[in-house]
Amino acid sequence: MTVQHDNACCCTAARRLTVDDLAVMREEYAARLHAPNMRHIFICGGTGCHATGSIAVKNRLVEEVAARGLTDTVRIVETGCNGFCALGPLLLVHPENIFYQKLAADDIPELVEEQLVHGRQVERLLYRDPQTKKPIPHFGDIPFFARQQPWTLRNKGVINPESVEDYIGRDGYRGTARALLEMTPESIVQEMLTSGLRGRGGAGFPTGMKWQFAQRSAGDVKYVLCNADEGDPGAFMDRSILEADPHAVLEGMIIAARAINAYQGYIYCRSEYPLAVRRVQIAIEQARALGLLGHNILGSGFDFDVEIYQGAGAFVCGEETALMRSIEGKRGMPRPRPPFPAHKGLWEKPTILNNVETLANVAQIMLNGGAWYASVGTEKSKGTKVFALSGDVNNIGLVEVPMGTPLRSIVYDIGGGIPKKRKLKAVQLGGPSGGCIPEAYLDVIIDYEEIAKVGAIMGSGGAIVMDDRTCMVDMARFFLDFIQDESCGKCTPCREGTRRQLELLEKICAGKGEDGDIELLEELSSMITESALCGLGQTASNPVLSALRYFRDEFDAHIKQKKCPAKRCAALLDFTVNADKCKKCGKCFQTCPVQAIAWQKKEVAVINRDICVRCMSCFEACPFDAID
Ligand SMILES: Cc1cc2nc3c(=O)[nH]c(=O)nc-3n(C[C@H](O)[C@H](O)[C@H](O)COP(=O)(O)O)c2cc1C
Ligand code: SF4
Ligand code: SF4
Ligand code: FES
Repeated sequence: MTVQHDNACCCTAARRLTVDDLAVMREEYAARLHAPNMRHIFICGGTGCHATGSIAVKNRLVEEVAARGLTDTVRIVETGCNGFCALGPLLLVHPENIFYQKLAADDIPELVEEQLVHGRQVERLLYRDPQTKKPIPHFGDIPFFARQQPWTLRNKGVINPESVEDYIGRDGYRGTARALLEMTPESIVQEMLTSGLRGRGGAGFPTGMKWQFAQRSAGDVKYVLCNADEGDPGAFMDRSILEADPHAVLEGMIIAARAINAYQGYIYCRSEYPLAVRRVQIAIEQARALGLLGHNILGSGFDFDVEIYQGAGAFVCGEETALMRSIEGKRGMPRPRPPFPAHKGLWEKPTILNNVETLANVAQIMLNGGAWYASVGTEKSKGTKVFALSGDVNNIGLVEVPMGTPLRSIVYDIGGGIPKKRKLKAVQLGGPSGGCIPEAYLDVIIDYEEIAKVGAIMGSGGAIVMDDRTCMVDMARFFLDFIQDESCGKCTPCREGTRRQLELLEKICAGKGEDGDIELLEELSSMITESALCGLGQTASNPVLSALRYFRDEFDAHIKQKKCPAKRCAALLDFTVNADKCKKCGKCFQTCPVQAIAWQKKEVAVINRDICVRCMSCFEACPFDAID
């Protein structure tokens, strides 16, 4: 065995796989993975870890392993996102399952010497429990991973996404084989209905039902589309799935195509996701080369092919009718529904559009059965859900939990709680279409209906944790700023209404709010919600309304007392040091860029407001909230 560090596919010659071939490839993979004296190093090659230097770490690893003559016993595998992005670059040593984190290229010689030559752990590079500070070497013992249930993300961090052999080795294309060779289109749909899978793109529409509508639509030409636009701020689940496990999404599309009898599919992916686009392109080419896409897939007599369509990165192009227009080569603007895409979609033909995460679940449902999938979750929300956990939380990354998990468990047990022991204020779910769940409702469970009851939505899975330093007026302003930038302008309520809302929120944040502004915001919200053409405008006011529902006192404080309780809105701050709270540490003094702060050891700091440029650096730096 040689070190395989390039990501080239070894299936260069085109050949057609059969079900028997799949079984042989699975055995070969298992033999490779469990070969005695073999080690596999899974190094994260997701966008997050690439950004923190994992390519340099991998290159150094390749060099060191070669220099030490370990090339026959060590296989280096570049994977997609492992999930624990905040700790990157990271790697996993198999079979010991030792997890190393925050690596630099210069750490590699020691790691190779100790771990690979002598079998000893390098303690300083291990994950440490934030409370006890004790190292936790084994991947499975780290709470962030131990409390998750990776079904959709079952291959994350353990396969090379650019190797179809790795994918097949882990049961890849078995679900497709079953669907194409053993099932009818009707029984595929029935299995999806039994699974209870609901669309993960936000609205939670039952996938089996959507497929049934398209199956029953008349027409010889139908399409299957994958929505990989992912425009919500704070969301990176779909990108990570495509980067880590692109064949899983292709399988979902093939099976959907068989269910409705479609011959062509498109993956609509924003061009800001170049790594995802590259890996999906490689997966498509590999699948074609092996007869897993194209003519007569797996000898079943069924034909289906997929192309990637790159979008320019407009949030509205995630909306289904706008997405289809964009693929047709027109400007991505929504149109009224009905007709629904299942009847008249792309080029007026019956079309299924599904989200990346939705499709990544399909092959496993075919393989293990709909009842297996439905065995996890709540009465109406089945299976697992992937969240992109970010914001003021210790463990930022990808989190997959069974439906029914309390939100508190995601934030504290998996997310590790709030940094610097601050208080949690709210969790924002569902991005610009969603809302915030305040600390008081943190025991709400992950379930489409339960989350809606507390004023948010499940959305596509962006979960932004906000601590007590978050100003909820400013948060609402942030989302509206995004929305009014992204409004396509086709309908007046969304184009003009969101702009008026944004102006109001900017005015309130600037300390110029007046009586009646809140009522005007509410009036605009209901008007836009009721009259906008598409989901973008119809949900644009949700972040404002949920902020008003739970944090109205903060709006009042801004307008009536001209105060920002969270001390976020620079226009409403005094820029004075509170002598009772100041612990005389001098951190504000060290950070001020214009030397506006006078401080001496054991003295309370003093701000010269004539010099101060209101940059807020001292607020960030002061650990005791002593600046008013
Ligand atoms: C403004 C807007 C943006 C959207 N963006 C996305 C997106 O990026 N990805 C996605 O899967 N669905 C997005 N949706 C939802 C899709 O229109 C559609 O419902 C979904 O792709 C259907 O797939 P599913 O049934 O698997 O969830 C968006 C909807 C709206 C109104
Ligand atoms: S609601 Fe907004 S995004 Fe949707 S069609 Fe109207 S203007 Fe365009
Ligand atoms: S706000 Fe900025 S300029 Fe003003 S005192 Fe603080 S650090 Fe200095
Ligand atoms: S990109 Fe490496 S863990 Fe997410």
